Amino acid sequence: MPDRRQFLRGATVCAAALSFQKRSLGQNMPHAPTVSAAATADFKPDIEIALTARVASVNLRAGSATTLWRYDGSVLAGDTAAFSYLDNNSHIPIIRASRGQKIRVHFTNALPESTTVHWHGLHMVQKMDGHPMYAIAPGATFVYEFVVDNRAGTYWFHPHPHERTGYQVYHGLSGLFLVNDPEEALAQLPQGDKDVALIIQDRTFDSGNQLVYLGARRQERMQGFSGQQVLINGQLSYTRDTQPTAYRLRIFNASNSSSYLLKWAHGQTFRVIATDGGLLEEALERQTLSIAPAERLEVWVDFSGFTAGQELQLLAETYTPALDNITSSQSGASLVQGARPIARFRLGGSTTSISTPPTRLSAYPPLLLSEAINQQSPRRVQLSMMQGNAMLNGRIFGAMDEVADDEKVRAQTVEVWEFANDSPVGMLMAHPMHIHNVQFRVLSRSVSSVQSAQLQTLRSGIIDEGLKDVVQVLPGERVQVLMRFEPHTGIYLTHCHILEHEDLGMMRNLLVQVALQRLHTVKSGGAATTAVIAGGISADGGLTLTTEVATPARVDIHASISPEAGHLGRTAGVVVVLQLLHSNSWLTLAANGELRPFNNSAIEFYKEITALQNYNEISLYSGSLATTEKGVFHLYIGYAVDGSRNASALIYSAEPLILTVR
Ligand code: C2O
Ligand code: CU
Ligand code: CU
Repeated sequence: MPDRRQFLRGATVCAAALSFQKRSLGQNMPHAPTVSAAATADFKPDIEIALTARVASVNLRAGSATTLWRYDGSVLAGDTAAFSYLDNNSHIPIIRASRGQKIRVHFTNALPESTTVHWHGLHMVQKMDGHPMYAIAPGATFVYEFVVDNRAGTYWFHPHPHERTGYQVYHGLSGLFLVNDPEEALAQLPQGDKDVALIIQDRTFDSGNQLVYLGARRQERMQGFSGQQVLINGQLSYTRDTQPTAYRLRIFNASNSSSYLLKWAHGQTFRVIATDGGLLEEALERQTLSIAPAERLEVWVDFSGFTAGQELQLLAETYTPALDNITSSQSGASLVQGARPIARFRLGGSTTSISTPPTRLSAYPPLLLSEAINQQSPRRVQLSMMQGNAMLNGRIFGAMDEVADDEKVRAQTVEVWEFANDSPVGMLMAHPMHIHNVQFRVLSRSVSSVQSAQLQTLRSGIIDEGLKDVVQVLPGERVQVLMRFEPHTGIYLTHCHILEHEDLGMMRNLLVQVALQRLHTVKSGGAATTAVIAGGISADGGLTLTTEVATPARVDIHASISPEAGHLGRTAGVVVVLQLLHSNSWLTLAANGELRPFNNSAIEFYKEITALQNYNEISLYSGSLATTEKGVFHLYIGYAVDGSRNASALIYSAEPLILTVR
């Protein structure tokens, strides 16, 4: 009996193999040629926020105010606590949401240059991820709409424009995005004013209190940028009045380049309860914490053993990417050597409440190495720095939608990746590697071939446990991570989160393609029908997603559908629809007589299959598209297996065939 393997072979022939996601007619195409800035009518937000990025003046130091770039916002609808500022009066915003909520952010760019908003760590559909391809021009607006489907945790948002992320974040643009869920509530962690965020950023000020940043020289950027002063929550000397009880500290390194090694001056250990992707399963005890740019670490701390008037200091040692602790080689910064206090907790209150330290915190589905499709051959990402370039697999970021063959993965699959920071040529530095749209598990960290005291010290504080979206890859190391690509398909990013490295191009697109075979359960006459569907198109003899032809064009289109053995074959009434999008409008196409207009809302053609005779790939449509129009065409295939022509029952290909007619 023909089986899935046979189907897969067939699908390989159609290299433009498509699979499907549910969407209704009239919704914007996933790869629409222009960025839509408008709110979507059928998206009903729980929280609606207005957010503006603008230039502002903030008093950070005695004397003149500092010119910053900041996010300002307010809640337009929904819980008013959804938007606030850190410590009530800082320039750093916090968005709070519950898992499952729908968020709409009306974003306005009041900056003098283009920007985007990236929701770091959160699962996003491609268009909402803030990829630089969706640049928002000065004065323009963009409506972000997304469903929060991450676990409770400390996430954040920041600009992600082409080659300007470092500049914009340094000048003040970043905010927290805190997600809560019922599981977190069960852990009974300290709440309210006992739930404290500590955002670490370093900055250098000139004598007029203005921020000093790097120039455009590539060589300078290789070193990254570390400021002379460490700010906590935007403050130069952060002191917090505390009660002698338990606190949850959400520590987040929002610096461009610096890593920090943290410890308590009084020698207490840290009880680590969460990393980037939310609560750990079990709390961990650590003497020091090493935190790289974009990483989050949450600790539970009990101040009940201290008496009123005591001041506890959180100490930090700064590490620049080259792990050169005294950065004479670095422009703009000469760092204090050794650990110095970055935050002070002044004990007050008379009643001491002793709390039980949390142990078991959460449970999440295990992600197992045995699930990986490439267990034997991890996907290698070689990090290297040479001749002013910071590269991934020898490449820098190219065209906005450029994806190399080794940068394509399949949705719903589990893969092992290996970040290899052992290039035999060029400079070795520490690189915090980040992948969009996933939370991964760190599987292993090879023993470094590079030995230095700084390296050993920093490594001793690294927390690899839990779910992560950033992993520190130290000089000479190979670090393996394991992840499942879900739930969205499209173009995402892999990059070093040293923002100067990212801006130099140490960033590559990652294309999450639709799963080749995917089970859809569709109700048919009361009984569930399961079908595995793949669509394939080959155009003009080409087998790739992008095809170019000259006008007048005649393109032969072959659309096919592959049923899962034994299922679709019993079903009557498969409807297949082709849709063609051109310059944001639907184009009339001359097809052969096999397809007829489907409805009036768009130019669509369908073919109804009443019975399938065998389980092999079935050709549904062979026809031609004739056009004298120039431009880019997006061709989608949709299907429904319940025989319904009801638009909402149609499932469309996530990726169109892109046809360029010149
Ligand atoms: Cu925090 Cu691609 O970024
Ligand atoms: Cu990100
Ligand atoms: Cu880097």
